[in-house]
Amino acid sequence: MKRIRIAVIGMGVSGCLHAESLKQIKDKAEIAAICDKNEEQVKFNASMYGCDAYTDYHDILKRDDIDAVDICLPHHLHAQVAVEAAEAGKHILVEKPIATTIEDADRMIRSARKHGVKLMVAENHAFVPAHQLVRDLVRKGMVGRIFLAKAYEITGDVPVEPNTWKILPEVKGSLLDMGVHRFFVLRWIVGEVESVFAFAKKLVCELDTENDDTAVVLLKFKNGALGEVDVTCGAVIEPTNRLEIYGTEGTILEDHMWEKPVMYCSNHKGYETDGWIKPEVEHSPFPGYYQLSFRKEMEHFVDCIINDEEPMVTGEDGREALRIALTAYKSLETGKEEKVI
Ligand SMILES: NC(=O)c1ccc[n+]([C@@H]2O[C@H](COP(=O)([O-])OP(=O)(O)OC[C@H]3O[C@@H](n4cnc5c(N)ncnc54)[C@H](O)[C@@H]3O)[C@@H](O)[C@H]2O)c1
Repeated sequence: MKRIRIAVIGMGVSGCLHAESLKQIKDKAEIAAICDKNEEQVKFNASMYGCDAYTDYHDILKRDDIDAVDICLPHHLHAQVAVEAAEAGKHILVEKPIATTIEDADRMIRSARKHGVKLMVAENHAFVPAHQLVRDLVRKGMVGRIFLAKAYEITGDVPVEPNTWKILPEVKGSLLDMGVHRFFVLRWIVGEVESVFAFAKKLVCELDTENDDTAVVLLKFKNGALGEVDVTCGAVIEPTNRLEIYGTEGTILEDHMWEKPVMYCSNHKGYETDGWIKPEVEHSPFPGYYQLSFRKEMEHFVDCIINDEEPMVTGEDGREALRIALTAYKSLETGKEEKVI
């Protein structure tokens, strides 16, 4: 079987994780090239992976022997590279958030469709087995009708380098960077969001920026449920995230810090539990769930190319998570509840 040849563009934190994932699925895919504007770094990484190194992504797009690009650049650079990659006939895996504006996300989706290439958003939370289990339990009716859902995304990586892209106004802040993960997951498990009311502030970061590092967003779902998303990159903690799902017939709690990340109780007819159940699920706390979900995500992307299938996280899914985040920023400006339209 022909191996899918992938070029990783942007070799920072996420690019290196993606490259490591590619190494783990050697039978199906290979790292053909990598690109980063930091010449010294990209040459060093290329020597480790035994692939070609570039500082300009256009040189990758010109190559006929590359099937796909994996865009791990700062948020505001995703759209332009993705559109050009689609025009060059490359399948696209793009890190979250898909883009920083709905117009850019739409351009990416249109371009991928026009040129017949896959566009998948690298939303690794869809590939965390604990999240998939929670979704399955909800779909089986174990919690009945959901009336309240909460999601938290917590890290301790507040920006400290004065020249980081994370303080640029166009990338906004934690509400966008971290919020999209949680908006994706809640939309995936609970359903479409109707309106939001947000607070977001710079409370921890000491750099010269207005970008928020902490946010609280209240949600109303179209199905009538209420919700809340809390994010911060300023905590003294290893990265984790948490879900709380409350339904008329059961409750599910999930936390990536726990060895057994899911616990639930239910009085759903025929499936009643005797107190809390902690089901077996493939998982290990940070960094284990990162490595696991990135590998599964990469394998899924490659399988979609090989089998010509629609990815589990489409450009449209990425755009809708972005739309909720951008509506939350609108609520910050107006001080009002805003409809997600
Ligand atoms: N799914 C996740 O859990 C996860 C985790 C981390 C980052 N991300 C996403 O990945 C993206 C990148 O974040 P990061 O933390 O890896 O950032 P980073 O700063 O660590 O890496 C970005 C890299 O892009 C390079 N770069 C910037 N402009 C370039 C250009 N024009 N051409 C070539 N290279 C260029 C930089 O030199 C840097 O090495 C973001 O969109 C972020 O949201 C996702």
